[in-house]
Amino acid sequence: MSDPDVVGILYLVSIICFILALRFLSSPKHARRGNWVGGVGMVIAIATTLALDGISNWLLIIVGGAIGSIVGVVGARTVKMTAMPQMVALFNGVGGGAAALVALAEFHVAEGGDLGSEEIVSIVLSALIGSISFSGSMIAFGKLQELISGRPIVFVGQNIVNVAILAGAAALGIALIAGWDEQWALIGLIGLALLFGVMFVLPIGGADMPVVISLLNAFTGIAASATGFVLNSTLLIVAGMLVGASGTLLTLLMAKAMNRSIANVLFGAFGQVQAGTGAARVDDGRTVRATTADDVAVQLSFARKVIIVPGYGLAVAQAQHDVRQLAELLEEKGIDVAYAIHPVAGRMPGHMNVLLAEANVPYDQLKEMDEINPEFPQTDVVLVIGANDVVNPAARSDPASPIYGMPILDVDKAASIVVMKRSMAPGFAGIDNELFLDPKTTMLFGNAKDSIVKLIAAVKAL
Ligand code: TAP
Repeated sequence: MSDPDVVGILYLVSIICFILALRFLSSPKHARRGNWVGGVGMVIAIATTLALDGISNWLLIIVGGAIGSIVGVVGARTVKMTAMPQMVALFNGVGGGAAALVALAEFHVAEGGDLGSEEIVSIVLSALIGSISFSGSMIAFGKLQELISGRPIVFVGQNIVNVAILAGAAALGIALIAGWDEQWALIGLIGLALLFGVMFVLPIGGADMPVVISLLNAFTGIAASATGFVLNSTLLIVAGMLVGASGTLLTLLMAKAMNRSIANVLFGAFGQVQAGTGAARVDDGRTVRATTADDVAVQLSFARKVIIVPGYGLAVAQAQHDVRQLAELLEEKGIDVAYAIHPVAGRMPGHMNVLLAEANVPYDQLKEMDEINPEFPQTDVVLVIGANDVVNPAARSDPASPIYGMPILDVDKAASIVVMKRSMAPGFAGIDNELFLDPKTTMLFGNAKDSIVKLIAAVKAL
């Protein structure tokens, strides 16, 4: 295809698809449609690019496309919901790596010589940011997959070493932009940037990886955008910027929902073992009250309003279908049931929405934190299922708590609270939860799926 107007229009259609996709993805109701529209935009973009004049090497393109498609389809179909963040890390990382490789290839083809200043600046940015994103994402993947320790890996002088590595990469970049046309300088820059990506992510705790992945995702978008300048592709520039902007916004939103600054996430080494934490304190006279599924069923049978609070443990137990079944059973008995969704419940944005949507829970039963919080005082029973930090009252009352200031679900304002988890172990933040010692709280210990199955049987038996 040689008509630039036709190519331009097709690329414009792709861009519109990408923007609409982001719009639709902003609500669980339209998320599927958003995925489709984005996919259609990507097919148009790839088909148009392959139809451009001057594309040869079909064998390589077909083999590369086939390998990528097989890995993508098999990966997306087989990945468990709880492993979604590491899959995003992996896919995001290869995007950054691709941007760096394109930069290297373009520099090689031009042999350094006849590159304009715009091109060499773009090549340097693409190689630098793309490489950081690649190696950083691989470390994030390794931490989440538990291939390496999820604990922050810290050593004395770490920040100085990191700054020195980044300064070395930046110096090579400046030399290249100033006209130094040695290919090894670009290879050296990529090597240092890869090392920086590793060193930058190692000190960050595994539990903070979703925020880091979102940030690295924004990096990949910016690297892809810079590659767009190298390749003179408006489509790549715009698509990269969309990823860069949405990744940045998502990072900021996640940090806000946890009431933490980005600097605290990146440099706070959150998740290091803290003395004195590990289980709710039980040495001040208050005791934890364990309950049974039969007792909870009786409690539920007297309730008029029940709120279910899902958390990370629900995803681990894969109990979403059983929860829906329990909710339907309660509704059949005339009980009003709603789900309270905290913005950072689980381990990735929208985790609980996706999980419950998979079990066909009606969207209108899912209520965001601000909407549901005023309803807790009128609620008879709250079922907290595998959630911990997002219901921890210390966020409201204990200025010394690491999660102080984080907005929480006010479950402690309900008449009675049942917490389903396996033990007294802490959640993501690694801290005690006073809720478990509240006289209104009872603990139904066990794997969430087993507990709910028992509860369903007990409710049916009443
Ligand atoms: P958490 O505070 O992490 O607590 C999850 C609880 O689930 C644990 O205390 C665990 O206790 C329990 N659990 C695990 N497996 C279980 C199973 N099979 N059955 C029953 N219970 C199980 O979860 P949350 O309340 O959803 O809070 C999310 C946390 O992640 C927040 O601190 C948030 O800031 C952080 N975070 C979230 C995101 C996003 S975007 N969602 C990103 C970064 C960080 P037991 O081991 O005793 O069972």
